[in-house]
Amino acid sequence: MTEFNDRFLKACRKEATDRPPVWFMRQAGRYQEKYRAIRQKYSLVDICKIPEVCAEVTLLPIQQFGFDAAIVFSDIMIPLEPMGIDFEYKPGVGPIINNPIEFKKDVVRLKTLDFTKDLQYTGKSLEILKKELNVPCLGFVGAPFTLASYMLEGGPSKSYIKLKSFMYQETEAWHMLMDKLATNMADYLLFQVESGAMAVQIFDSWVGILSQADYREYVFPHMQKMVQYLKEETEVPVILFGTNSSHLLLDMKATGADVIGIDWKTDLPDAWKSMNYEVAVQGNLDPTLLFGEWDLIENRAKTLLDSIPNKPGYIFNLGHGILPKTPEENVRKLVNLVQGK
Ligand code: CP3
Repeated sequence: MTEFNDRFLKACRKEATDRPPVWFMRQAGRYQEKYRAIRQKYSLVDICKIPEVCAEVTLLPIQQFGFDAAIVFSDIMIPLEPMGIDFEYKPGVGPIINNPIEFKKDVVRLKTLDFTKDLQYTGKSLEILKKELNVPCLGFVGAPFTLASYMLEGGPSKSYIKLKSFMYQETEAWHMLMDKLATNMADYLLFQVESGAMAVQIFDSWVGILSQADYREYVFPHMQKMVQYLKEETEVPVILFGTNSSHLLLDMKATGADVIGIDWKTDLPDAWKSMNYEVAVQGNLDPTLLFGEWDLIENRAKTLLDSIPNKPGYIFNLGHGILPKTPEENVRKLVNLVQGK
């Protein structure tokens, strides 16, 4: 095995690296021919629950493209099943919840995760990966808000009326829900760290639908508590990512996260400057740009790289998850470009 590549961890800790580390959110997935072949045999949930298959899928993008970090293959919905949420995946739509939360009693009923029996497969997958990888593997969870959005809406949503109605009207139950999710997801991250994850990312994909005032009132206290608890219990870097979140970046930073993920609509150098370079940043090429001609991708990637101030703590990534049908050749070229190959 070649020497361990710790560029990603160094950048998370704002230490100097010879070049920016690069990984892509959702880097193992349907744009890969090899993933689609494995999906012929196994469902998404099977892949998450069979450690050998999970490890194989997690390794695919590392073997194919040489990313500087891996992310354990799973989904943000997976830990909700042992909490009592019954869901399925609708192809092309996303997770659909069969027993969405409607009343306070549904929140009260949610179970506490027990890592002596729940989610053992994720732990086993991470143990295998630790042996097989020479780059760090990230663990991850969905943020309480993003998970709550699925639990209350019953699936993806455009208006988030059910979610916001519950938040505004059933405020006490809302806070109980956020607290339960924050505690359980923090414990799940710590379990992933014990099992071999060397950094963790909290995906708050849909939080950008909140105003700053609502974020501060209904979400921030839980995020701060969650991140502070992680910081007390582990030394691994904590990455916090949201989309459409340029108006929330300073609050996200105030949670105490080590790295802030910047979405593709936000100007990354401006965002970093606005945070006084006190955190590391990760991002943020538009994932749909990868459907363009290579000349355009190269041009935009170079523009982004050239715009990054010469300070430690930058991680190259897309500004949201990589999309199905993304040409694999463009991924290969882009990773090589960042790595100076
Ligand atoms: O390699 C990796 O990065 C790990 C894989 C990963 C998956 N989901 C696997 C998956 C990660 C990090 C996630 C996180 C996730 N899941 C998020 C946060 C990141 C983001 O993109 O905002 C969210 C919001 C979800 C919920 C979810 N699960 C959606 C919206 C979908 C897509 C539905 C569809 O069919 O387009 C899923 C299903 C899912 N999770 C797939 C994968 C590879 C695709 C389904 C499949 O393989 O059949």
